[in-house]
Amino acid sequence: MVDFHEDPGPGTGRRAARADFLSDAPRLSLNGRWRFRLSATAQGTGPGLPDPELDDSGWDTIRVPSHWVLEGHDRPLYTNTAYPFPIDPPRLPDDNPTGDYRLRFDLPDDWPQGWAGGRTVLRFQGVDSCGTVWLNGTLLGHSKGSRLPFEFDVTEAVRPRGNLLAVRVQRWSSGSYLEDQDMWWLPGVFRDVELLSRPAGGIDDFTVSASYDASDGSGALLVTADAPGLVEVPELGVAVPTGDRAAVPHVQPWSAERPRLYRGTLTAAGETIELAIGFRSVEIAGGRLLVNGAPVLFRGVNRHEHHPERGRALDRDTMIRDIELMKRHNVNAVRTAHYPPHPEFLRLCDEYGLWVVDECDIETHGFIYAGWEGNPPAEPMWREALLDRTRRMVERDKNHPSVVIWSLGNESGSGAAFGDIERWIRERDPSRPLHYERDPSYRHSDFYSLMYPSLDDLERIGQRKEEPPEGVAAESPGDVRRRGLPFLLCEYAHAMGNGPGSLADYQAILESYERFCGAFVWEWIDHGLAGPGGTFLHGGDIDYEPNGGRYCLDGLLFPDRTPSPGLAELRKAIEPVGITVEAGEVAVTNKYDTVDLGHLEFRWRVEVDGIPAGHGGTLAVPPCRPRETARVPMPEAEVTGEGETWITIEAVLATATRWAPAGHVIAFTQTRLGTTPHHRPPLPATSTGRPRVLDGLRLGEAVFDARTGRLVRLGGVELTGPVLDVWRAPTENDRGQGPRNALAADWEAVGLDRFLHRTGDVERPDDRTLVVHGRSGPATRTLGFRTTYTWQWRDGALHLRIDAEPVGDWHDTAYGHLTVSPPRMGARFSLPGGYTDVEWFGLGPGESYADSRAAARVGRFALPIDALQTPYVVPQENGNHVETRWLELRGPGLPALRVDGEPHLDFTARRWTSEALQAGQLLDSGRVWLNLDHGQQGVGSASCGPALPERYRVPVRRHSWSMTLSA
Ligand code: GAL
Repeated sequence: MVDFHEDPGPGTGRRAARADFLSDAPRLSLNGRWRFRLSATAQGTGPGLPDPELDDSGWDTIRVPSHWVLEGHDRPLYTNTAYPFPIDPPRLPDDNPTGDYRLRFDLPDDWPQGWAGGRTVLRFQGVDSCGTVWLNGTLLGHSKGSRLPFEFDVTEAVRPRGNLLAVRVQRWSSGSYLEDQDMWWLPGVFRDVELLSRPAGGIDDFTVSASYDASDGSGALLVTADAPGLVEVPELGVAVPTGDRAAVPHVQPWSAERPRLYRGTLTAAGETIELAIGFRSVEIAGGRLLVNGAPVLFRGVNRHEHHPERGRALDRDTMIRDIELMKRHNVNAVRTAHYPPHPEFLRLCDEYGLWVVDECDIETHGFIYAGWEGNPPAEPMWREALLDRTRRMVERDKNHPSVVIWSLGNESGSGAAFGDIERWIRERDPSRPLHYERDPSYRHSDFYSLMYPSLDDLERIGQRKEEPPEGVAAESPGDVRRRGLPFLLCEYAHAMGNGPGSLADYQAILESYERFCGAFVWEWIDHGLAGPGGTFLHGGDIDYEPNGGRYCLDGLLFPDRTPSPGLAELRKAIEPVGITVEAGEVAVTNKYDTVDLGHLEFRWRVEVDGIPAGHGGTLAVPPCRPRETARVPMPEAEVTGEGETWITIEAVLATATRWAPAGHVIAFTQTRLGTTPHHRPPLPATSTGRPRVLDGLRLGEAVFDARTGRLVRLGGVELTGPVLDVWRAPTENDRGQGPRNALAADWEAVGLDRFLHRTGDVERPDDRTLVVHGRSGPATRTLGFRTTYTWQWRDGALHLRIDAEPVGDWHDTAYGHLTVSPPRMGARFSLPGGYTDVEWFGLGPGESYADSRAAARVGRFALPIDALQTPYVVPQENGNHVETRWLELRGPGLPALRVDGEPHLDFTARRWTSEALQAGQLLDSGRVWLNLDHGQQGVGSASCGPALPERYRVPVRRHSWSMTLSA
């Protein structure tokens, strides 16, 4: 019995790699339910698997394509960098779950067989991690390289009726050493299986070269093929044989912004192949990336293929959903992290318009635990396997205009194989530049590239003044070459949990220097798997060590593809139109790379205190070429003087596109008109009258606990508070990465999560005023805040001023010389659980933080308290709203409670405390917990990346803030 799985070779018996294309040649999908049996070792069910006589009627069935671990067999595993098997290449442990698959099928009656040399080809689009294939008892061969197709010629083996296809799939193979991406290990036949008829004398593979000359707008088309054929593009009047160049005097180029495809055909013996031609040229010139002669800026995301139930077995609708969501959020580029996607995704990128960095299925990150000793790219044994993956990617995807860069792989250190790979691609496809981030010499890359630099480092890179990578001497030829390269930020803004922060800061730098060709957020979607009761599972939820825990939950979409607030922030940060109001003019900057603004309509409206003021209109923005600014006079908006007045100007789609309806907002800005403060709307009348409480201290209609000095009633509202609140349920970013930037660990070490409160003197300087002194701080420590709550009854409402003065050792604390600053400077109140809704005037409607507030706009918003919670898969701080002017809480039968900031507050309202949130106990506590805060620190992206910039932290100094409460 053959056993290929430990052989470092990439495969046997396979056909040569070739382009993926659509044609009218007969095709039979073999997707569906197959017989399946899982065994514990690589031997599977034994040598009888391919035997057509084997009785498999007792076997389970499984859907193909799928991952067996998501179909009730064994379990999915998630590790980040670690190999879940010993590093003993190319060998694997005996425990090696192995799926044996069997399918019986007939050919359709009209299947062209046996005539004049026509071939029948069996194609697997993706098998994880190693597939050995037999047809009717005949061994066809095997293949590794999970996210790449392989084919066998089955002309001799296939029969009209009663075929028996057998596939053995080992979970672990030598290929697994090359597939250590940060994602779930999901074995199985997870992409389509199909039978293709290849006509006699027909074309098997072809290469489209469709270049664009920006100097005169001409295009040049050359299609070469392995058999003669006729290339026809009726729209261009092109009809040329393969191998002949067609010069087209005028074409519209392809770009992500205007994905102009010319549909045509390639006709060869027995077959008509669909062509979707995009004319475009990619080059690196003057240290910049140019497409069609002009610079481009990728506003990108790293996309893994993920579905909470199907894993990487995505259907076409899900791919379209991803693309629509990307386009609607101003994303224009995808890095196919970290393997070639299903080929249909690239067809869709051609059609919808996305720049693609196509990345090879190569990552050997786990060799970090061997000190990179034996790293495959540096070991000759793996050369063929690595080259094989590269060939299969390039050959499969070479005809897609959307693919503008080849990425050699991810996080695989350095090694001679990258030189071989580079040489092979440059020869095979000189039309696209290459990217590889992890070799500090960058000798195989046309880009300088990093992951997760700080804002300051990025700024230096923009100026080409960066420090050379470790081991590279300044001013050495390698240093000089790298400094001359464009910079591609292949990963930044780690979107784990609440965040990422600073998206707008990064974008401002990316737009400031010519060296940058763009950036890709890490990452598109949380890899949570569907768990019981609507929950999502991460690595730590599977009983297996090692696991990468929650680190797979770091996307801009929640696992079910609900956009997170981080995606809303990204959309605003990367908007392709900059609108600013300067000196009585509206300046509109076209930040697109290739198109003018003709597809947009500019509309404006005025709101006073968040209420539409009834006037608005459209702005006539003159034609504006890429990277230019047009100016138009400010619209004549009346300022009534009645309240806080804002003009909102939006750029919206003038007509519907394939991915969004007309009116979809692409960009917006807001500017305040005049300086009139907002008007406080009157509180609805309540029938509760004066407080009935007799005990306690009274101030107008407010009652205080005489002992604690806390407010216990305001008019008809029973509330308690405030307590000084310096805590928030740590975000993933607060927890940093291991010991790096682990702010939350420091906070917990010094007790910021367990402040105790003491009331000191309660003074009554006059009958309108109450002053409550106190101190808040944790057990064991000296640090804390001395607090003064000054209450005054004025104009029928209760004014509160909070002064918090730091005391004790915040700096260089007795605990391990830590210097800490609090995540929050706030005041927490507890309200009756009957409150259900909040209305506010301020920034909204989504959550906002100091470093993630670009997407929020000034307005008047109303939402149920329950809708203010953001369901991060791992419960953590969420739902803050910065710069709130006023808010009002309401509930059936309860008097409204109104809070006015003086001038602003951050507010959060939820049914559980921060402590319960941290513990993941999102249960109705029977109270509403209302935070009326001076501020919170930003969210950052330190779960993988730089520390939160100082300016987004809450400084340890005296903080004072004020508000007015009325009921
Ligand atoms: C990068 C890596 C990604 C992911 C990310 C952290 O180093 O390329 O695959 O692991 O870090 O989430």
